[in-house]
Amino acid sequence: MLLPVLALGALLFVHAAAAPLLAARQDGCKDYVLIEARGTFEPQGPSIGFRNMIERTLSSVPRGGHHVVVYPAAPDATQLTTLIGRQDITDYINNGTKGCPTQKYALLGYSQGATVVNEATQVFFNQSSIQARQTKAVLLIGNPYHLPNKDGNVDEDGGNRTSNYTGALVGTLNATIAPSYYDTGKVRDICHTTDLVCTGISLDSLFSSSHLSYGFTQSVQDLGVDFLTQQL
Ligand SMILES: *[C@@H]1O[C@H](CO)[C@@H](O)[C@H](O)[C@H]1NC(C)=O
Ligand SMILES: *[C@@H]1O[C@H](CO)[C@@H](O)[C@H](O)[C@H]1NC(C)=O
Ligand SMILES: *[C@@H]1O[C@H](CO)[C@@H](O)[C@H](O)[C@H]1NC(C)=O
Ligand SMILES: *[C@@H]1O[C@H](CO)[C@@H](O)[C@H](O)[C@H]1NC(C)=O
Ligand SMILES: *[C@@H]1O[C@H](CO)[C@@H](O)[C@H](O)[C@H]1NC(C)=O
Repeated sequence: MLLPVLALGALLFVHAAAAPLLAARQDGCKDYVLIEARGTFEPQGPSIGFRNMIERTLSSVPRGGHHVVVYPAAPDATQLTTLIGRQDITDYINNGTKGCPTQKYALLGYSQGATVVNEATQVFFNQSSIQARQTKAVLLIGNPYHLPNKDGNVDEDGGNRTSNYTGALVGTLNATIAPSYYDTGKVRDICHTTDLVCTGISLDSLFSSSHLSYGFTQSVQDLGVDFLTQQL
């Protein structure tokens, strides 16, 4: 007699636990949302740099969503365009934490989009805030504000060949990742060995082939999928 009673108890427990989750999903909430910011000159829409890793993450981790940051991505020596993107991210997460408090976020940024993401981490720098707590991953490729010797710095093969390099724009504007994200292991800053934007040798090669290669490099896409699935 004991066994069936226990089994029934377990079923009821499972049912009770599942009900609020189901209700939440009917409200349009997801388990997580991948928020991506594209690079300079890419048309408004998904970035070529993340297409493969986003598709694979959405298919392997259930109940995910996808938001494309709305911002100009025009050449910008100030913060005029990136602050528009930062606002889009902060609005999106502020709204999400209200209606969907358990929804998680991953911030993905490519080139100028990495700057946008960095700036958003500065707004939600306090890891006690719900916005920062629900932001589980910051994944950058070709980050012009790449800081040297940080946890989460990797090259295109997951190694440390570029970990001690400083991005080309470091020291110009205050647009690096908020330190609290490194402290919590949430950062993966992927810098290709010959990408002069994140290794900082010169800005002349902004459009060198390696700065444009991330989306077509299998190992980079694999690194992204591994990190996102681990964090979400
Ligand atoms: C705000 O969040 C709700 C879910 O609580 C969602 O249905 C709605 O689309 C969101 N609005 C915006 C502008 O993202
Ligand atoms: C950079 O900006 C952030 C957020 O706007 C601010 O909290 C921080 O103090 C600034 N850091 C420097 C060095 O100005
Ligand atoms: C961080 O947020 C917590 C909770 O909201 C607050 O008590 C604390 O003062 C904040 N810390 C900073 C440095 O703003
Ligand atoms: C990479 O790691 C190896 C082994 O720990 C170390 O000897 C080397 O100095 C590191 N290189 C950089 C650029 O940090
Ligand atoms: C990074 O480390 C490598 C290997 O230790 C070294 O050859 C290189 O000069 C370092 N680069 C910088 C910018 O510190």
